[in-house]
This record gives sequence, C-alpha cells and structure tokens, in this order.
Amino acid sequence: MTNANSPRPTTSTKQVILDSIDDKVAELLERLVGLTDDEYRWEPAGDMWSVRASDGEATVDFDPDRDIEPAPLTTIAWRLWHLASDCLADYTARFNGTPMEETDPSWSLSADEAVQRLATNWSAFRSVLVGFDDWFEELGDGFGPWSRHCVADFAMHASNELVHHGAEIATLRDLYRSFGPAARFSMPLSEAMYSLRAIRRLRPDPIPPADIEAMLDAAIQAPNGGNLQLWHFITVTDRDLIAQFAPLYHEAWWAKRSDSGYTPDTLPDSHASARRLADEIGDVPAIVFFCAIAKGSAAANAIIPAVQNMLLAGRALGIGGTITTLHPTVDKRVHELFEIPDTAQIVYAVPLGYPRGRFGPVTRRPLHEVSSQNRWIRDA
Ligand SMILES: Cc1cc2nc3c(=O)[nH]c(=O)nc-3n(C[C@H](O)[C@H](O)[C@H](O)COP(=O)(O)O)c2cc1C
Repeated sequence: MTNANSPRPTTSTKQVILDSIDDKVAELLERLVGLTDDEYRWEPAGDMWSVRASDGEATVDFDPDRDIEPAPLTTIAWRLWHLASDCLADYTARFNGTPMEETDPSWSLSADEAVQRLATNWSAFRSVLVGFDDWFEELGDGFGPWSRHCVADFAMHASNELVHHGAEIATLRDLYRSFGPAARFSMPLSEAMYSLRAIRRLRPDPIPPADIEAMLDAAIQAPNGGNLQLWHFITVTDRDLIAQFAPLYHEAWWAKRSDSGYTPDTLPDSHASARRLADEIGDVPAIVFFCAIAKGSAAANAIIPAVQNMLLAGRALGIGGTITTLHPTVDKRVHELFEIPDTAQIVYAVPLGYPRGRFGPVTRRPLHEVSSQNRWIRDA
C-alpha cells in the first residue's frame, strides 16, 4: 500500500505512482542502514563487477557491450552505482536535455556516500517528474528508442529498477549476514589457490586497515607447532618507516644474490621481478613483518602456514603481496627500526597492496614429476 501519510483518496495517477516510488526508495534506504564499506564491496564469487580504486579514482567495472551473457554478478557497490548514477542521474540529465554521451563509470568507495547519492539522485529525478503536468505525452526526439514513451513510462521504469536491484541488494545483505566473519573470504577456494601468485608490482593506494586486520585474523587461524602461537605480526603503513626500511630491503636482497654468486651484471632475467621489488618496495602501501617470538628454526617454521593463510585471505580481497626474507647483514638494523626485541626473529617481510597487474595462474612442474605412489620414484 502506498504512503499512508499522503492524502487520500486521490484521482491523480501521477500522485499514486510518485507515492509508490517514494515508498520503494524509503524501503530501500531503510534496508541499507548500517551498510559497511566491507559489505558494500563484498565479492561472494569470482569475477564480480564492483567499484575499484585506481590511481586515486574510484571507478566501476564496466563493459560498453551492455548485453553480456551471462550478465556478471555484481556487488552492492556496483548496483548502487547502477541505480543512482547509471539510471537516476542519467534519466535526470536526459529530461534536462543534457544526456550523458557515454556511461560515467566514476563512483565512490564509501558505502555512506553511495547511499547518500542514491537518495539525492532520486530527489533530483523526482523533481523532474513532478515538473511534468501531463505524464502521458510522448517524449519525442532526444529519447532515442523511448521517443514514443511518456513520463509515466519513465517513472514506472525507475520504479522497476529500484525494486529489482533493491531486491538483489537486500539478498546480498542477507547472504553477507549469514556468512558471518568469513564473509570477507568467500571466494571459491580453488580460485584463490590457483591464482595466488607472487604479486610484486603493487599500487601505492592504501589498503583499508580493516582488510589487513581481517587478513591477519585469517593468518592466526593457521596450524602451528603445539599451538604455542609463537608469533607476532607488525603491520607497517607509516610512510616514513617504510622509506627507512626500503634501503635495508634493497641491501638484503642484493646480499642474498651475492651469496648466490650473482652480481648486477650476471643476474638472470628470472630475477627481474624480485629485483624490481627491491627497487620499489619504498612505495608499497603496507608491509607485514611475520616475527617469531623465539629464536630458532622450529619457531620460524611454525609461522609458515600463517603467511599462506594471510595471502589467501588477501587474494579473496583483491590484495596481493609476496613472501620475502631478509639477510643477516640488515637484521640488527631492521630490529632497531621496528623495536623488535633480540629474543624475537623476523621470519618474513610481506609487502602488500593492490596488484598493478592481475592475479593469475602459477607456473609449476606437473604433479606426476614431483609425486609418486608408495615410494620415491623421481626422474630428475
Ligand atoms: C620462503 C619463501 C621465501 C621467498 N622469498 C622471496 C624474496 O625474498 N623475494 C621475493 O621477491 N620473492 C620471494 N618469494 C616468492 C617466490 O619467489 C615465489 O613464490 C616463486 O618465485 C614462485 O612464484 P609464484 O608464487 O608467482 O608462482 C619467497 C617465497 C617463499 C615461499
């Protein structure tokens, strides 16, 4: 039933439709209360379309071919963009005689801002609708395939968009709630494992602290010797500290190469990516130091599953990184820089960030070459 506060009875079709859409918008806005940024960008499946940070801008995934089959799954963020910008703002522009030439993919990474824009853009389009006395006149030129439609058609179309995308958004919210804390990592395990390669080219865009915290929470679920949890994780995002660490990492990386007998002139091409990371690590948005709170290889080894857990969790969030080790030549200075006690050891330094390239398949020898049944059988 339409808005109980709107005077009744009415003989105005326009008023009935407007009241009906107002109700739908109000219901949707109520359904969006408490939407967090995490939930807003939640990707419960692979290859979803969403809004992404790119060089300081936030843009939605988009393909000019609108008839993609099957239509990609989309996040709440993408659906809010579609409703508020792609639909409502576009309709308003059309009626104002300033139709957008191309789809505008710019959007917001903030759930609050997106919801606000939905409300604002509905108000703007509503004002356009209210301004028409005759809702049944043909729209005419400027409306392309809809030229023989009328204002009432457009109003009903907006209503349709709000209802069906609103229902999809509501379903995503219900799913998110039912997944509980693990909702953030619901990418298929197969996809995460098979596309988790070392990501060394990282964007400088900051990672939300809640994402790193969630990744570390996944890390501490890992098996570890005797469940002693001899670990400590230091997340470094301070630009000054990362800048001070960068030359130490560079020095450590080249010290390891030197231990292997390489000089800059003899270094094989296969090291190019790791070498570049040694040059660029000062620009990464975050580095997590995986430390063991005791010395010795047992304590160090016990942290290995945790780092893989963290990287898999990061994969599910679209955050990449790579495991790196340091070198004894820099160990003392890195301890001092991060105030790590002498009783502890740094096991791995893991730079993290959004990939400049894509996640992708790893290159591994076939399983039959590296496995056998019942006894050791191996050609080389
Ligand atoms: C214990 C360990 C230490 C590693 N140390 C480094 C390192 O110091 N620097 C680096 O760039 N990559 C490092 N890596 C990443 C490996 O080089 C990478 O996983 C390997 O080349 C395979 O590449 P992929 O993971 O992209 O398939 C390390 C990986 C492991 C497991």
